[in-house]
Amino acid sequence: MYSSKITGLGYYVPENVVTNNDLKQWMDTSDEWIQERTGIKERRWIDPKTEDTTAVMGAKAAKIAIDRAGLTKDDIDFIVFATLSPDMYFPGGGVQIQDLLDMPTIGALDVRNQCSGFIYSLSVADQFIKTGMYKNILVIGSENHSGGLERSTRGRGVTVIFGDGAGAAVLSRSEEKGKGILSSHLHSEGKHAKELALIGPSTNRWVPEIMEDNDPEDVSYFPHMNGQFVFKHAVVRFSEAIIEGLTANGLQKDDIDMLIPHQANLRIAQFIQKKFQLSDDKVYNNIMRYGNTTAASIIIALTEAWEEGKIKDNDLVVLAAFGSGFTWGSVVIKW
Ligand code: UT7
Repeated sequence: MYSSKITGLGYYVPENVVTNNDLKQWMDTSDEWIQERTGIKERRWIDPKTEDTTAVMGAKAAKIAIDRAGLTKDDIDFIVFATLSPDMYFPGGGVQIQDLLDMPTIGALDVRNQCSGFIYSLSVADQFIKTGMYKNILVIGSENHSGGLERSTRGRGVTVIFGDGAGAAVLSRSEEKGKGILSSHLHSEGKHAKELALIGPSTNRWVPEIMEDNDPEDVSYFPHMNGQFVFKHAVVRFSEAIIEGLTANGLQKDDIDMLIPHQANLRIAQFIQKKFQLSDDKVYNNIMRYGNTTAASIIIALTEAWEEGKIKDNDLVVLAAFGSGFTWGSVVIKW
């Protein structure tokens, strides 16, 4: 069995900054409420006049990651692409990356696990590398939330939280034992699917049906979140996933050098930090600047932490996520 290690990281966020105060033009909200409940100060929302889309942002992040890995697009054997906001209902965004980066006709897999999308994607890529099937895999998380959010007071409980952006990692074959991805653990509990979901348009509620109803009260095509219910489950599942990852590797909480939690809410991250008694330099958060970018959040945060020199050789890095599905999981990496 081979090991798999991250050899390149990159991220891209749209230039357009939307502050909490900017949101007041659409809804009754306040900077104070948003910061107090979520920690968010601003987020990036795509300016529709630019070329940016979920796939375009993913391709921009991917180019940086491939360069930093010291590779070219032709060295990549496979693409794993995570998003809940693809440019098209079908096909998924993976094939767009293959095209945008002008890559050979390699395989492209789409992952639909929302906030856990990057954890699931990394785990899938890890299995392909470890078994020897592929040498270099591009793993991408990208989201364009802004176009689909309800910009009104009715939608404020969800809309203020989400931001756009993309991140990418190159996962490569390694023969160094005890380094790279040590483990991944994945979970789901579908009975709570509707607590954080976008119901239509889908086969459950097709576009013609939505148009025919023409119901101004219809919110089925906006994301819905039962915030407090999700919050309560998040703090429990985050902890479980981290403990599971540490235990599987015979490690303790004191062994963690860097925890990168999915950026869902600063209060959740702070709860986890306290529970695991981690000092501020051992948890990386950037939700203040980007909001929740779902499948992109962990990989953007990981890239920034690495760029800032906060992740060094031999560090134990733990990634953990929880979100819609519900799905959750962790990845433990020896850098
Ligand atoms: O990434 C996927 C996983 N997601 C999560 O883990 C998110 C988990 N949940 C949360 O982070 C929090 O539940 C939220 C940040 C979404 C909401 O915070 P909350 O403290 O649970 O607030 P709430 O939904 O209970 O709403 C409290 C009040 C309500 O008013 P009333 O009924 O008490 O009068 C809301 O209408 O705050 C109101 N409210 C707002 N007020 C100003 C809701 N959204 C806003 C807003 N601005 N944007």
